[in-house]
Amino acid sequence: MQDVFVHDRVLEDPARVREVCDAARRRDRTVGFVPTMGALHEGHLALVREARRRADFVVCSIFVNPTQFGPNEDLARYPRDLEGDVRKLELTGVDAVFAPASDRMYGEHDRTRVRVERLTAHLCGPHRPGHFEGVTTVVAKLFGIVGPCVAVFGKKDYQQLAVLRRMAADLFLPVELVGHPIVREADGLAMSSRNAYLSADERSRALALSRGLHAASAAFAAGERRAGVLRDAALEVIEPQASSIDYVTVADLQDLAPMDDQATVDAALLAVACRIGATRLIDNVVLGEDSP
Ligand code: PAJ
Repeated sequence: MQDVFVHDRVLEDPARVREVCDAARRRDRTVGFVPTMGALHEGHLALVREARRRADFVVCSIFVNPTQFGPNEDLARYPRDLEGDVRKLELTGVDAVFAPASDRMYGEHDRTRVRVERLTAHLCGPHRPGHFEGVTTVVAKLFGIVGPCVAVFGKKDYQQLAVLRRMAADLFLPVELVGHPIVREADGLAMSSRNAYLSADERSRALALSRGLHAASAAFAAGERRAGVLRDAALEVIEPQASSIDYVTVADLQDLAPMDDQATVDAALLAVACRIGATRLIDNVVLGEDSP
C-alpha cells in the first residue's frame, strides 16, 4: 500500500517533503530514497523497485543539480520531462516525488559545499572539475531533507557511488547506500539520459563502450590478468569509434587509483569515459565480479 499517492501532486517544498517522511516514520515505515536528475529510463526505475524492496515509503527526487555541471557542460540542454517522469514513477510505485526548483535547494544564503578528497582525484574527477563536489553537496542536502534509512544508486556511476559511500561514512550519516547493477539496452548500451542526444549513427558507435568492456571481461575470463593488456583489449574496440577519450582505466576498487600496466588484476574496476560525437558517455565493468 502506498502512503501518499502522487498523481498530479509533486512536492516542491523541502519542508513538505520532510513532513511526509516524518509522518511515514511515525507510522514505523522505513524511508527509501532514489535521487535522480529526471529524464527517467529503466535504469532509474530499477533503482526505484530496489528501494521498494528495501523500504516501506519510497521517495524519488528529480532535480537537475546546477552545481555538478561545469561551465561548458550540458546543464541548459539536459533532457527534462517532469510530466513523463511522474507518470513512470506512478506506474513503478513511489510514495512521493520531490522536484524542487533550483532556488529551493540553493537559497541566496547558501554557503556550504561538501568535498570528498582522494577518491575524486581519479577517473572523472580531473575531467570534470567541481563535478563531484556538486554531487556530494546536493546529495547531502537531499539526505538532510528526506532522512532516508536506505538510498539506492546505480553502479553505472561507479565513482559517484564510491564517493557518496565515503561521504556517508565520514559524516556518520545514518543511511545505508545500496549499489544497483548497470541496466543495459538489449544490445548492451548502458542506459543513460544522455543517450537521447545520440544520432542514429552515434547510437551504433556508442556500442563500442560496452563491447570494449566486454572484450576485456572475456580476456579476464580466459585468464588474462595484466592490467595493461586488459585495458588495451577495451581500448582497441573503443578508440576507433570514439570522437575523443577522457580515459579507459583499470582502477583499484578501493581507492579508484589507476593500476600500473604491469599490475596483476584480482578484481578491479575497468572504466571508460569518452565522447561519441559531442555526447560524453561513461560505462564500466568490475573485472573479477561482473560476468562478461
Ligand atoms: P542521474 O544521472 O539521473 O542518475 C540517477 C541514478 O540513476 C544514479 O544513481 C545513477 O547511477 C543511476 N543510473 C543511471 N543510469 C543507470 C543505469 N543504466 N543502470 C543503473 N543505474 C543507473 O546520478 C545522478 O543523476 C546525479 O548525480 C544525482 C546522484 C541525482 C545527484 O544530482
